[in-house]
Amino acid sequence: MMIVVTGASGNVGGQVVALLATAGEWVTAVSRRTAELPEGVRHVQGDLDDPARLKDAFDGADALFLLVAGRDPGAILDAARAGGARRVVLLSSQGAGTRPEFYRHPVAFEDAVRRSGLEWTILRPGGFHSNVYAWAESIRGGHTAPAPFGDTGLPTIDPADIAEVAATVLREDGHAGRVYELTGPAPTTPRERAAAIGAALGTPVRFAEQTREEARAQMLRFMPEQVAEGTLAILGEPTDAERRVSPDVERVLGRAPRSFADWAGRNVAAFR
Ligand SMILES: NC(=O)c1ccc[n+]([C@@H]2O[C@H](COP(=O)([O-])OP(=O)(O)OC[C@H]3O[C@@H](n4cnc5c(N)ncnc54)[C@H](OP(=O)(O)O)[C@@H]3O)[C@@H](O)[C@H]2O)c1
Repeated sequence: MMIVVTGASGNVGGQVVALLATAGEWVTAVSRRTAELPEGVRHVQGDLDDPARLKDAFDGADALFLLVAGRDPGAILDAARAGGARRVVLLSSQGAGTRPEFYRHPVAFEDAVRRSGLEWTILRPGGFHSNVYAWAESIRGGHTAPAPFGDTGLPTIDPADIAEVAATVLREDGHAGRVYELTGPAPTTPRERAAAIGAALGTPVRFAEQTREEARAQMLRFMPEQVAEGTLAILGEPTDAERRVSPDVERVLGRAPRSFADWAGRNVAAFR
């Protein structure tokens, strides 16, 4: 099978590429930046904002792993179908279901995928364990982890589990027309995540509670305002649906999702 993976230079996409290559699939990795790729993986430099130029990437494709980037999802999906693709797996966001008014971009991608005529599966992860990379500098420099809403628990997910679900759903039949909510195995609070990194380091990490305003100012440096507001609402006043542990990772993979402490143990080098 030839599978096109977008976001191949990113956290999730990079791991999807690695899993598919290990499973012996033909992989075409698309990204704007160059990415370090396993041997045998074809790289096409491309921008999802310029789907007309993705023709080369899609030529001969059977399936597409799509993330939410670019302005015209319909044009991306048309190009994929023209190249031969029959299946698409979309990396959307839990917020598309729980707070569609803030998550218009993922909602637009979900709508386009449903209308694409391709066999589709939508993945809706909650917050990632790896969002604590935002603490790397302050932990390395001062053993401090700043975040708002320190005692509000959410079941964040390991990006490696998202990638494994994606790789499975791209290769297996039986997932067409499904929307999978992807969470970790249990809620943890930001304060508990800071402590788990401290435990992995063998040095305590001090949790520093931020105000909502401080957190918002930081988020606006790398997120559009609407997404920052949606994210703050989820972190500060999560709904029951956002607090809930989903059974979907276990349904697809036949094993429980990995905990935050497990992620911290595997990625401790970033904080040292
Ligand atoms: N972090 C969370 O808590 C969270 C929660 C729910 C959903 N999500 C979703 O998960 C996605 C993936 O997360 P991640 O951690 O893997 O992100 P990441 O590491 O930041 O990677 C994002 C990827 O998107 C690619 N990209 C961005 N704009 C592009 C464009 N115009 N054309 C082609 N590629 C483009 C980037 O590649 P180049 O820059 O090389 O092109 C990069 O490979 C996010 O984008 C978000 O929609 C995240």
